[in-house]
Amino acid sequence: MKKTPSRKSIAGLLLSAIMSFGCSAEEQHNSTSENESPIYQLPQSPISKCINVGNALDAPNEGDWTYRIEDYHLKAIADAGFDTVRVPIRWSAHALATAPYTIDPVFFDRVEHVVNTGLDYGLQVIVDVHHYDGIMQSPDEHYERLDQMWRQIAKRFSGRGDRIIFEVLNEAHTELTNSKLAKLNSKVLTTIRNNAGSEPWIILGGDEWGNLSGIEDARFPDDPRTILTFHDYSPFPFTHQGATFTVEKYPLGREWGSEKEKKELKALFEDARKIGKKWNKPIFMGEFGVIDGVPNSWRAEYIEQYRRKAEEAHIGWCLWDFGASFAIYDVSTREWEPKMLDALMSQ
Ligand code: BGC
Repeated sequence: MKKTPSRKSIAGLLLSAIMSFGCSAEEQHNSTSENESPIYQLPQSPISKCINVGNALDAPNEGDWTYRIEDYHLKAIADAGFDTVRVPIRWSAHALATAPYTIDPVFFDRVEHVVNTGLDYGLQVIVDVHHYDGIMQSPDEHYERLDQMWRQIAKRFSGRGDRIIFEVLNEAHTELTNSKLAKLNSKVLTTIRNNAGSEPWIILGGDEWGNLSGIEDARFPDDPRTILTFHDYSPFPFTHQGATFTVEKYPLGREWGSEKEKKELKALFEDARKIGKKWNKPIFMGEFGVIDGVPNSWRAEYIEQYRRKAEEAHIGWCLWDFGASFAIYDVSTREWEPKMLDALMSQ
């Protein structure tokens, strides 16, 4: 593990950030100067304010990593003002390894309970495929299995309207590069469309661990009900300081918010907008956040800047995470960390 913080066109991004720094979005939108790249208005993401109930159903078994999703968690999420919950799910650990790749019925019931509860509380629910390590190492061997798992998932949730949103695969990496992903995305998309019985939104990502650079040069099927996603944890030495699960270890005490870092943040969203414009699709930042243990005032500052920039760009955001190692909710006291909630929800 895990993601590389590097981005492909950092020089180009910095250049465009320097060029546009200091102008309002309105001024840039209306700009006719040859030297400035205009900022386009993206199609509005159907997801606005979202949180990941991460490290629960994406653990090898729910509960192995900190907590299980309780019904009152989903109520707390809805009450706090989120419109969407993203549910990361490790389907690959709960399905037969050989055809017909049947999903364990007990696990399926459990996922359906979580989805139904989220819907009952008025949330949109994103169902993804998380931590499918096998397909990252040997895409060709797992291609059919992923497709067949999606056939079962789409069927199970068929005809349930568009408040259930499907995300084909979390953070493609290693051997699953964009050329392979293009074929896989389009195959799974067809499978979901053929089995879901309605026209749900479907989220598609690129390679490079789901970073923005992954969707910069990806190809996407021509389907009007698709959303492009990226994750961003830059700078990694800040967001992952003290993490025990990363290959490289980052010491505690690293702050964020220099002028350079703020320009990089601005450039990130300008670049995201350009990608959305190129495909004329909504963009969704499906993960961002700062690990627990960093002072909450530092975490809150970073989180607020990120989500405000996303909102300005009409890009939906989804915080990582609810109650685990990047938590903003304490599952033992059942309380939100007020600074963090304010950073996400304040006007
Ligand atoms: C992974 C988590 C991890 C988080 C932050 C997610 O994509 O699924 O396990 O904690 O990224 O690195």
